[in-house]
Amino acid sequence: MRLNSPQTNIIYKACIKASKSLIRDFGEIENLQVSTKGPGDFVTSADKRTEKIIINELQKAHPNYGIMTEESGFINKENTKNRWIIDPIDGTMNFLNGISHFAISIAYEEENEIKCGVIFDPIKNEMFYAEKGNGAFLNNSRIRVSKKNKLKNSLLVTGGPNGSSKKRNVIFEEFIKVSNNVNAPIRKFGSAALDIANVACGRFDGYWQWELNYWDIAAGIIILKEAGGFVDVIKYDESLPRKRNIIATNSMIHEELSKLVLKQN
Ligand code: IPD
Ligand code: CA
Ligand code: CA
Repeated sequence: MRLNSPQTNIIYKACIKASKSLIRDFGEIENLQVSTKGPGDFVTSADKRTEKIIINELQKAHPNYGIMTEESGFINKENTKNRWIIDPIDGTMNFLNGISHFAISIAYEEENEIKCGVIFDPIKNEMFYAEKGNGAFLNNSRIRVSKKNKLKNSLLVTGGPNGSSKKRNVIFEEFIKVSNNVNAPIRKFGSAALDIANVACGRFDGYWQWELNYWDIAAGIIILKEAGGFVDVIKYDESLPRKRNIIATNSMIHEELSKLVLKQN
């Protein structure tokens, strides 16, 4: 770890601790995969187990901080001054199918401003982290976004449509239109947190996805910004649980990608 605000350290320790049980659970998936029941319930409990370890660790340090998590909702909701935002497993579908591409994602906010974030891929042992004003890192190395400045030379990543929204068909059609118009290769890996982290370290040049939750992207936002990237978080229908649309790039292709992606709305 090259950064050391107290909150980054607390998150780091929580990630390391939770990842041990997560790796054990991932090892079990293979056995369950071939059982008739499949790993569904087991994954739900792995999610909850991981989240519990993380919450315990964070609360040991700061019992009164607010917490927003995917599995448990809000804890100490009234505390908006200091808040953790947790996704215990981002990439659940991959995890469920024994695909080793998922991550723990945790961010810390003060007065609604993200101060630091960590995304930990326990299988590849890749820890992405950043603190406001202090740069972004992957393990012990400083990371920067790519320098590609034309969409046609870029490699993009997306999560595609989620299929969970009432506007599903519209979003699906939009996605197809955008994908057809984008004159660049597009990949889909199934973890929003790692998609953004991979833009931050220059593996991808841009990412877009509609209908995300805040815990999918909170840590990624600060990591990408501190790596020199640009993030547009577009809030939309507040009545739906998945409220955020995101365009996240190396900044140089941002305008070109945004024009294409937003034109379809
Ligand atoms: C999901 C992943 C996926 C994205 C979905 C998210 P989960 O999070 O980030 O890449 O396409 O929108 O819900 O459910 O695996 O935590
Ligand atoms: Ca999750
Ligand atoms: Ca998620």
